[in-house]
Amino acid sequence: MFPDFSDGAENQSPPGGIQMVVSTPKESEGKSGSGTQITREYNYGTWRKQKGWTPKMIVSAEGCYFTDAEGVRYLDFSSQLMCSNLGHGNRAVIDAIKRQAEELPYISPEFTTDARVRLTKKLLEVLPGNLVKFFYGTSGTEANEAAVKMTRMYFQKEGKFKIISRYVSYHGATAASIALTGDQRRYTSETPGHATGVVRAPDPYCYRCPFGLRYPECGIACVEYVDYIIRHEGNVAGVIVEPITGTNGVIVPPDGYMQRLREITKDNGVFLIADEVMSGWGRSGEWFAVNRWKVEPDILTTAKGITGAYVPLSLTATSHEIAEHFEENMFSHGHTYEAHPLTLLPAVAAIEEYQKKHLIEKAARDGKYLGQRLQELAERHRSVGDVRGAGMFWAVEIVKNRKTREAFNSREDKLEGRQTVAGRVAQEMGKNGVYINSWITHLTVAPPLIATREDIDRGIDAMDRALRISDELAES
Ligand SMILES: Cc1ncc(COP(=O)(O)O)c(C=O)c1O
Repeated sequence: MFPDFSDGAENQSPPGGIQMVVSTPKESEGKSGSGTQITREYNYGTWRKQKGWTPKMIVSAEGCYFTDAEGVRYLDFSSQLMCSNLGHGNRAVIDAIKRQAEELPYISPEFTTDARVRLTKKLLEVLPGNLVKFFYGTSGTEANEAAVKMTRMYFQKEGKFKIISRYVSYHGATAASIALTGDQRRYTSETPGHATGVVRAPDPYCYRCPFGLRYPECGIACVEYVDYIIRHEGNVAGVIVEPITGTNGVIVPPDGYMQRLREITKDNGVFLIADEVMSGWGRSGEWFAVNRWKVEPDILTTAKGITGAYVPLSLTATSHEIAEHFEENMFSHGHTYEAHPLTLLPAVAAIEEYQKKHLIEKAARDGKYLGQRLQELAERHRSVGDVRGAGMFWAVEIVKNRKTREAFNSREDKLEGRQTVAGRVAQEMGKNGVYINSWITHLTVAPPLIATREDIDRGIDAMDRALRISDELAES
């Protein structure tokens, strides 16, 4: 049976629900069958009912492609979990991993290393200029946990602790981050006593405006409402947003939203936390999505593309003001693997690759081409309700009825593990050798930044063919 890529029946995997096991033919005896069986029986598949999980055995990956144990090659049209920005098999990053492993694979975070110094200097080059002090973790969720803890520590004496997040959002799986998350993945964690102090705000989701308004006549009511919440809620310490919402639909806020959010947070004396775990590192055609609006957040969190996902590294970058605070106040946070040398040197190599190969500029340029090709699909397919994005970061939203914008599926379908129409389209693309993530109502198009126009065309052709499935089910 073909791998159940994306959100097939009972699959609730996060950003797209990949179902693959990576191994060498030797370990797996060259067959998918036994490796899949052992993995399936003794390992947990993430964000899903375990029944029905049949992880596909993957044996190698190079550039924008990966290959399974049967020798079938797939175009990676979502950069795995929107993280393999540099593509697969990047020599410079692999060499950096090897070098660090030989030199000094681990040392306690109380010491410093050459890798740490080099990465710090690189970050000062590429991050928004106001971000001058860094904490390293190993995952996006940890980066957000650190951001929330730092914010609460900073405002502790004032008694401010509440964090505003949005409904259509994902910020990670651990206790505080899942509490920040707005999407349905938080539902099963919402037990009494789970992390509290989170208040939710409406989303700048213009295709499905929570107020039923249209931009620009709306006056960006969704951001003005954040001001209202802060003033009426009391004890708000920070606002966390994905500057471009990722998993939940590549929602690019209208121009003015992020600038106004910066003003509102500043005026109210609360921190703006930009979660750039997915939107950072060239994905949107800028180093960071906030650059698009020249907004400087108080804290920026990131992971994924910082190493191109070759090793697990995350970053919580803070402003001078926050750095100053912790000179005289206790910084009550840390991990055994903070600033793990084996994660830091590959990040230096990854950032140098972005720079040397001009991948940020390339993402902006080729992203325009990708966007155009997707718009052509929207014209041809009646089930495509919306195409939106920036750089190499796009969503194709699939609808039952284009006029009413009625969706085929809901959060509940995802929660119950029911197959979605978008999932079926993704599965069909898989049969044609193109891997793509789907999420409830949309497909996430996010190829590695190194993708050529031929790669883009190949992905578009597969989508063109697969969209017949949703077209047949659509009403108008
Ligand atoms: C915006 C955003 N924040 C946080 C996370 C969590 O990152 P991780 O899975 O590395 O913990 C993700 C993961 O997809 C994400 O997209």
